[in-house]
Amino acid sequence: MKRYKKLFWLGIPILLIFVIWIKWDNWFYNPSEPPYTSSTIPDRILLTWSGNALNSRDVTWQGDTVTHTGFLQIMSNSTPGDTVFYTSPSKIIKTSGGASSFFRVGMKNLKAGETYRYRVANGNSWSDWYNFKIADSTDSAYSFIYIGDVQDSINGVSGKLFHRAYESEPNAAFILFVGDMIERPHDAYWAEWFKAGGILFRTIPIIATPGNHEYYKGLIQKLDERWMAHFSFPQNGPPNFLGRVCYWDYQNTRYISMDSNGIQSIQSAFEQRNWLKSVLENTHQRWIVVIMHHPIYSTSRGRDYFYLRALFKPLIDQYDVDLVLVGHDHAYGRAAHISNSRFKDKQGAVYVGSHASPKVYDTGFSEKMDKLATNTQMYQLLDVSNDSIRFRAYTADSTYFDGFTIHKDAAGNRSVTENAPKNSSAYLKPTASFLRKTSKKEMEKYNHEMEDWEKSKNK
Ligand SMILES: [Fe+2]
Repeated sequence: MKRYKKLFWLGIPILLIFVIWIKWDNWFYNPSEPPYTSSTIPDRILLTWSGNALNSRDVTWQGDTVTHTGFLQIMSNSTPGDTVFYTSPSKIIKTSGGASSFFRVGMKNLKAGETYRYRVANGNSWSDWYNFKIADSTDSAYSFIYIGDVQDSINGVSGKLFHRAYESEPNAAFILFVGDMIERPHDAYWAEWFKAGGILFRTIPIIATPGNHEYYKGLIQKLDERWMAHFSFPQNGPPNFLGRVCYWDYQNTRYISMDSNGIQSIQSAFEQRNWLKSVLENTHQRWIVVIMHHPIYSTSRGRDYFYLRALFKPLIDQYDVDLVLVGHDHAYGRAAHISNSRFKDKQGAVYVGSHASPKVYDTGFSEKMDKLATNTQMYQLLDVSNDSIRFRAYTADSTYFDGFTIHKDAAGNRSVTENAPKNSSAYLKPTASFLRKTSKKEMEKYNHEMEDWEKSKNK
């Protein structure tokens, strides 16, 4: 007995060392950042808002470290002579690959229903002019675009999806990203993401939540400082998560961002949870949408972020959150409390995880999911009114893949109707990486799971 005890205590550290050795790259390795030189002209111009969505907009941009002052000029289309100038001091961020200046301006007192033109400058070097429109305050119905993980874009190739989404929804009020916009915290990957967005990022505001790929790996993971410099978001979050855990109100909806990768201790978990509870207690908007990077219900094989479910799901249910939008799983999955769903949780929000990345993961055929897709990039369009949220998901070639509508009556009672093509094994095939690593027996198991899942969902 004593001998077994000894072996047990000896085995634990050996096992631990083995696991760390296997997982070293995943958990701790940060590839060094290639050297970069920042542009002398205004670069990576991004439109957001951090105050009232009906009368303010923020713009951030980047430049070299020689210029210490940035300028922004704005005029309205209806009274072009009415020009306002803003200045911004530079914030220099140094990383292992180089250094850049970041500028930020918050434009106030804008008029609802007005279209504005603006341009920015690094010293004397001005950008082109760009337009943006402030919604009419009386028009509470609006649309937006939701994009999942983008990382691994090759020369901005994922941008095709953003632009395709915009062509389908040219009146989109904003684009919502759920983290992992970049592959690694490197200047070159930020360049990819901005290239993918192109003019859209300068003309439509962006909402985003951080993902694990925007963090430096380590025992304590640290968010890339450039994330905070690019995204000028509301400073209404908990003290240690200002600007990344926050909420935006847009018309009849409150959007709440949680930093799921920032949960690295009991303290950080409860700091976010307590903040979410206090925000939900004081939310009186018609709709509530929670966004975070990691899923409450995983789509991908072998993944389960149970601690997020334990932390946030009771609040999502208690305060009637309508929709939870996530990323991370590099596959598409939608779980909804639809009447014919086998998912027994009929109380809660509709959960959707999506991605726009060329990197694809396999699905785990969770019975909670009513719709699944692997091996394809997706984009989503949402139309919000006082009575409903209509959700539509499309594959990269613009094939309609999934759709549902959340209805809410005057008393606040919810129901969900589905308008989706049947699940098809064409979208459930294993990824190339799965095929490379899998034995014949495991492949048979996969096929059985796929057939069972498809059959049960298409009843
Ligand atoms: Fe991720």
